[in-house]
Formats: sequence, C-alpha cells, structure tokens
Amino acid sequence: MPLVPMRQLLDEAAKGNYAVGAYNVNNMEQIQAIMQAAQETKSSVIIQASRGALKYSNFTYLKYLMIAAAEENPNIPTALHLDHGNSLATAKEAIALGFTSVMIDGSLKEDSKTPTTFEENVAVTRSVAEYAHPLGVTVEGELGTLGGIEDGVGSGKVLLTNPDQAVEFVEKTQVDALAVAIGTSHGAYKFKAEPKLALHIVKEINQRLPELHMVMHGSSSVPQELVDIVNKYGGRMPNAKGVPMSEIQSVIPYGVRKVNIDTDGRLAITGAIRKVFFETPEKFDPRDYLKPAREALARLVAQKMRDLGTAGGAEKIKALTLEDMKKFYRGKGWIK
Ligand code: G3H
Ligand code: 13P
Ligand code: ZN
Repeated sequence: MPLVPMRQLLDEAAKGNYAVGAYNVNNMEQIQAIMQAAQETKSSVIIQASRGALKYSNFTYLKYLMIAAAEENPNIPTALHLDHGNSLATAKEAIALGFTSVMIDGSLKEDSKTPTTFEENVAVTRSVAEYAHPLGVTVEGELGTLGGIEDGVGSGKVLLTNPDQAVEFVEKTQVDALAVAIGTSHGAYKFKAEPKLALHIVKEINQRLPELHMVMHGSSSVPQELVDIVNKYGGRMPNAKGVPMSEIQSVIPYGVRKVNIDTDGRLAITGAIRKVFFETPEKFDPRDYLKPAREALARLVAQKMRDLGTAGGAEKIKALTLEDMKKFYRGKGWIK
C-alpha cells in the first residue's frame, strides 16, 4: 500500500472516535519498531519527521526508509507527515520527497522561536494549504503556543488557543487539522505540579467546529518506569513529568484525533541502550544494543496504539490516494 493521505486517517479516527498516534522518527530502527507495533495491533499510523530529523537522515535516506516501510507493511495505512514545518519552502521540500501531509507551524516565525501575529500565521498557513491541497496533501496548522499552564511562562491565557480565533483561523486557512495549545509542552519536563489540560478549550472548539480534527503536541506521558530504567543505568533525569494517558483519553471524545509522541520513544530507546552498556560493557556490536532498543520502542508504541483506540482500525480502512484527495478538496470547493 502506498503512503496514504493523513487526512484520511484522521477522518477514519473521527468516525470511530479514536486518535491516531504520530510518532517521530530519525532512523531505520525507529521506523521498523513503529511499523512492527502497527502490524501487531492492526493500527493505522502516522510517522512524522521534524526538520532536524530530515537533516539527520540526509532527506533521501528517510524517503527510502519510508518507501520500504510501506512496501513491507501493505496492510497498514501509513501517513508520512512533516512535523513543525517552518515555511512554505520546507513544506514544498517535504512534499517533493513524498510526504503525504505537512505541518506549517505558523505560530512561530521561520526561526521557530519568535511568536507571530495571528495575521502572519494565517498568511503562511494559507500559502501552504494553497500549495498542498491541489496535490492532495494534508495540512496541519497551529494556533497558540505550547507551554505549561502553570510554569510561569505559559500561565497567561494568551499562550493557550483562543476558540474564537480558532474558528476564524480554520475558516481562513482551510487546514485539515489544527494543533491546539492546551497546556502541554515538548520534552520530558512538562509540569512542575499536577498535570492539567485545558479541557474547556478543546470542548469549546469541538462544539463550534465539530468537523475539525485537533492535534495535541507534547503528548508523551514520560512513564516513570522508563525514566527509572534510564536513571538506574547511569542516566540523570530527575523530576521528569509528562501527560498521563488518562488526560489524553479525556480529550479524544472532543475531536483530538492526532496525538504527537516523540519523548517517550526517546526514553524507551535510551533506557534499553543504557541497560546493555551498563550490564555488558564488553559488547560493541551495534546490533546488541539497537535490537533491544527497537524492541522497547515497539512495545511502547503498541501500548499507545491500544490506549488511543487505534488498535484494530487498520482493517476497516480502504486506502485513498492523493488523487482521491484532490477530488475530495475539489468537492469542498477548496481547489479548482
Ligand atoms: O516537536 C519536536 C519533536 O519532538 C521533534 O524534535 O526537532 O529534536 O527532531 P526534534
Ligand atoms: P513530546 O515531546 O511530548 O513527545 O511531543 C512531541 C511532539 O509534539 C512532536 O511534534
Ligand atoms: Zn510538536
């Protein structure tokens, strides 16, 4: 099965009221582990690569690894998505490589640091949608800035997504999916106090835009057992804290259809590699530590797939092509 448009996976998730995990990758072992988990649980899957991942894998390697993943797993509907694209140029580059979906993170300027105005965000996001949709490619935008609700920086409502703006943003940009800021942040240190998501924002957006697929970035749970393994074998990650799966599950009924996970995968891999190095320092064949790392990641992702409700969904999906999506966008009047 060729790579499928991400929009289809989100539409299917909406029909079945579940969420699809979007797992970040940089190399072959990560891709293999995620595909193995999808195969075991019969799940659809979104594999995503950041700009850093594309650079690390020299672009072409990632492209062919994903072609291999699709060829090896013809029964698994798999979308390939650009995570945190920062410009139209980057989106074009990813689409040329065969990505079936792109994120344009217009909440920040091209430097990925400076916040933009609402108008700037609309303009760059719309330019990406105007380029991607005629090619059948899915577009994810972002409104609001990720950050903890109680971390002092993100305590103001300004950083969380404003539902009024979300309605205007979606109308003006015609994005397929919208990343919303509801109190999560990237990485292993998300909360100082008890984790709390701004459920009311998701509920309000869902009420006003029931068809919209929302995306939750910063969705790693930072499981204590994985942190313990890292620390037990020489790591140093005190006070790491993530979003409990129960919090994630609480937003799924309100239109959160894509859940981004990178940090938990990094923890699983690092813990497994540290364990081998610590227990058997005489080993130096990369396969001796990359294999357990790949297995640890596959176990983690399979559990995520069950928890998010993605498991079992693959069999119900008849893959669409980018050509089908062009017809779909024409039908919506989004392209000519
Ligand atoms: O959102 C960020 C993702 O975790 C990707 O991280 O830019 O270090 O590849 P990265
Ligand atoms: P985590 O750091 O919580 O895994 O979030 C990843 C993410 O949002 C990638 O876009
Ligand atoms: Zn993100």
